[in-house]
Amino acid sequence: MEKISRTLNVDLLKREDFGTLVNIKGWVRTRRGSKKISFVAMNDGSTINNVQVVINNEQFDESLIKKITTGACLSVNGKLVESAGSGQRVEIQASDVEILGVCDDSYPLQKKGHTMEFLREIAHLRPRTNAFGAVFRIRHHMAIAIHKFFHDKGFYYFHSPIITSSDCEGAGQMFKVTSLDLKNVPLNDEGKVEYEKDFFGKETHLTVSGQLEGELAATALGAIYTFGPTFRAENSNTPRHLAEFWMIEPEVAFNDNNDNMDLAEEFIKYCVQWALDNCKEDLEFLNKRIDKGLIERLKGVLDGPFKRLTYTDGIKILEKAVADGQEFQYPVYWGVDLASEHERYLVEKHFERPVILTDYPKEIKAFYMKQNEDGKTVRAMDVLFPKIGEIIGGSERESDYDLLHERITALNLPMKDMWWYLETRKYGTCPHAGFGLGFERLLLFVTGMSNIRDVIPFPRTPHSADF
Ligand code: 4AD
Ligand code: MG
Repeated sequence: MEKISRTLNVDLLKREDFGTLVNIKGWVRTRRGSKKISFVAMNDGSTINNVQVVINNEQFDESLIKKITTGACLSVNGKLVESAGSGQRVEIQASDVEILGVCDDSYPLQKKGHTMEFLREIAHLRPRTNAFGAVFRIRHHMAIAIHKFFHDKGFYYFHSPIITSSDCEGAGQMFKVTSLDLKNVPLNDEGKVEYEKDFFGKETHLTVSGQLEGELAATALGAIYTFGPTFRAENSNTPRHLAEFWMIEPEVAFNDNNDNMDLAEEFIKYCVQWALDNCKEDLEFLNKRIDKGLIERLKGVLDGPFKRLTYTDGIKILEKAVADGQEFQYPVYWGVDLASEHERYLVEKHFERPVILTDYPKEIKAFYMKQNEDGKTVRAMDVLFPKIGEIIGGSERESDYDLLHERITALNLPMKDMWWYLETRKYGTCPHAGFGLGFERLLLFVTGMSNIRDVIPFPRTPHSADF
């Protein structure tokens, strides 16, 4: 076969230099036609759109034509021509076809209309479907948008560690990291594990958040963000929880909680706008096939400011709703950790737009949040979104050494692991604030998928870590 440099589908579909000899490589999505002629839809992943290849069967060996089946990988040389058929502007008149990889009959993506549950079982193949191709291209574009947003604002990308000895959220939902032989764990006289004999000489875990290290960086570089995987061993089998998820955590010196909310709102709107500008075809596909309200919902978020109110006012609204007959699965009262049904009620029913709740009870929030003068609440802020509930969690941080020390003691957190964090409050402490955006929660919103397992290539959830 003559060597011609390969053109990506995405580029080819824009070309108009009809008559040129081109080469494409990709996978067969469908083949139809007659005894004489085959129409082969090929996709190479660069775009959701297939390229139609027209093959005059008589010009080729019958054995080769037989191998052009759904899933097979081909390299095709041919002339770029204007398409006579509807649905595409250009097509390729094949002059040479090479089968790079035949596809076995057992290929599970022959037919259309598989359930999401079934596709999860074949996560090694599902990126080849239209829906997952679209989702993973959008995932890429969102990551780029995030880096661009912060870079353009002068934030530095800071790499927080994945293995850590501290529990940032204090919720104890951590996966242990050890190289000890689990069949022969060294125990001391009291029956406790001798972590001194472990790889790091101490007890370590996979991080639940890069925030504590991010705070150190903010007190040096001014404004930073982290963007990496985080891990939580919480047994939450919901469509919004993963055991391994990616989080973006900006942290900014001298920001208070209002600045923090401004940044969060600007950031998330930027990401949504970026998707609308850069992922048009994929979004149109998802809007048509997955969620008919998707594009409208994305535009809705950009339209006007998010509603900001305190947790206490939010509870009043929910209590009134209950009094008026609204039914929730979980109870509503001041002090409760809101469930996603409560968050969604505020967003979808009451305000009909994204909501930022502030000043939560300190008992349901992490130790590092700045305490309000009332002694009961902290300067927290959660951004709540339609369909999702909490998409961002953040706060102004406690910058006073004594107050922070007191809180760590009161909560019985291991002070010996926190010495370095406390020292920032001793050596030129400064007011600062930050938040965490769950990357997959953002993707749930932007793609319209309804289960978080379907916006990450290889989901990790309780009892599931295949691939
Ligand atoms: O509210 P969270 O727990 O906040 C923190 O981790 C802070 N350290 C962030 C900060 O202030 N720097 O988590 C932040 C966000 C949530 O709002 C949610 O979007 C996402 O992370 N998240 C999860 N996403 C998927 N699966 C899970 N199990 C998640 N837990 C939290
Ligand atoms: Mg939270």
